[in-house]
Amino acid sequence: MTRSDIPTDRATTYTPKARDTALAAFLAEQPAYAHATHVDEVRAREFSRLDRLGHVYLDFTGGGLYAESQIRRHAELLVSSVLGNPHSHNPTSLASTELVEHTRATVLEFFSADPAEYDVVFTANASGALKLVGESYPFCSGGRYLLTYDNHNSVNGIREFARSAGASVTYLPVGDPELRLDCAMVSEELERANPAHDNLFAYPAQSNFSGVQHPVEWVAEAHERGWHVLLDCAAFAPTNRLDLSAVKPDFVPLSFYKMFGYPTGVGALIARREALAKLHRPWFAGGTITLASVQGDGWHHLAPGHVGFEDGTVDYLGLPAVGYGLEFIGSVGIDSIHDRVVALTAWLLDAMRALAHSDGAPMVRIFGPADTLDRGATVAFYLLDPTGRPYDVDRMERLAGRVGISLRTGCFCNPGDGEVAHHITPDDMAECFVGQQSPVTFTECHDIIRDATGKMPNTMRVSLGLASNFADVYRFMAFAARFRDVPAGALSRM
Ligand SMILES: Cc1ncc(COP(=O)(O)O)c(C=O)c1O
Repeated sequence: MTRSDIPTDRATTYTPKARDTALAAFLAEQPAYAHATHVDEVRAREFSRLDRLGHVYLDFTGGGLYAESQIRRHAELLVSSVLGNPHSHNPTSLASTELVEHTRATVLEFFSADPAEYDVVFTANASGALKLVGESYPFCSGGRYLLTYDNHNSVNGIREFARSAGASVTYLPVGDPELRLDCAMVSEELERANPAHDNLFAYPAQSNFSGVQHPVEWVAEAHERGWHVLLDCAAFAPTNRLDLSAVKPDFVPLSFYKMFGYPTGVGALIARREALAKLHRPWFAGGTITLASVQGDGWHHLAPGHVGFEDGTVDYLGLPAVGYGLEFIGSVGIDSIHDRVVALTAWLLDAMRALAHSDGAPMVRIFGPADTLDRGATVAFYLLDPTGRPYDVDRMERLAGRVGISLRTGCFCNPGDGEVAHHITPDDMAECFVGQQSPVTFTECHDIIRDATGKMPNTMRVSLGLASNFADVYRFMAFAARFRDVPAGALSRM
């Protein structure tokens, strides 16, 4: 399908002229957005490639975008320095060590974390940070791993470590349709820590599926009841202030590319020093020990703090770019970024709810909160045909791509939110696991469940970030509106 194949005559409410009127109304309704004009200047200066190349980027929860100045600063550093492997005392090695340690301090400062209380372990990504916790947490028989349904698979995967150590694994379900948790149920379960053992509670500050933001107050509540807390901030940190002087989780995994696009190979585990000291690493590697011997009875001393967790050589050339990224976000202002994306999300949710076929049938079903209360700028949804049947999401992603819109479809590595959103039962899922000889893919699972039940566990997602503006969300709505009165069966011919 080409741009001209989409029935533009149907997009009566999304014309360029209507856009000016909609923008004026939006600015009047959203003074926080209207006042943050410096972000428009940042978009024009640092992200001009978006408009120059005709991109509407709506996958910020998948990955953030880098500002041009981040890349220039990094390139300038690299061409004007000679940097060697940090594990030594020669001048080029010391120069790298200084840059790495400066970046570590910048990370703590950005999140208002007291260096006496928190340490930063650099990893390849958020999943790498989560694996460090999973493989090293003192899970044992009688201990507990408690987690919410809406965790990313890299948090779900920790259950394998918990189970193999004999700890019990308990999931707290989200409810349909808002995909939130019942706070009373969470409190009740937090009361049940086993005081004789170690107990870990894991939840996302923001779901990467529904955008739901859970109360950060659970951190203190869980601590009081004897839990360590893993607060997954991978989807939260790019557009929300994380203040570790006010909220004090034990473990915070992050991927920096989600915050500012570049570099892509660096994440962090920000950990309370006390909690980090409780972790027992299952192995040692170059760089993580003070001393090891090949003689004797397996002698080695693990280095204290972050050193004991950074296996081998850190990305010492990439790490300075993390500092530049954080400084860039700081210069724009995380609160301005937050206010802008909340305003855009409010407009988008209203526009989605209002979008209807000629007979009044809704064109959008939102999975998760339909307003901006305690939610971030990630919106999961279906586009529906006049009979209420969802359009094929793979096809939709491709059609959006043809008009320059990057959105995401699938389950977003968040099976819990997806299963509840689409009313998938344990029996439905069993079809994809029990008795299967070879691994079933997500696409095969989708087809198995659709054929057996008519349910379609595949979702569309748009997510906003630092560089998003009104024109982006408007162009997405103009695209969606073009399917007004189009039957789902007709999509494959478009
Ligand atoms: C909430 C959340 N946690 C963890 C991750 C894993 O991040 P990465 O793939 O960078 O390791 C993601 C990625 O989308 C996420 O959204």
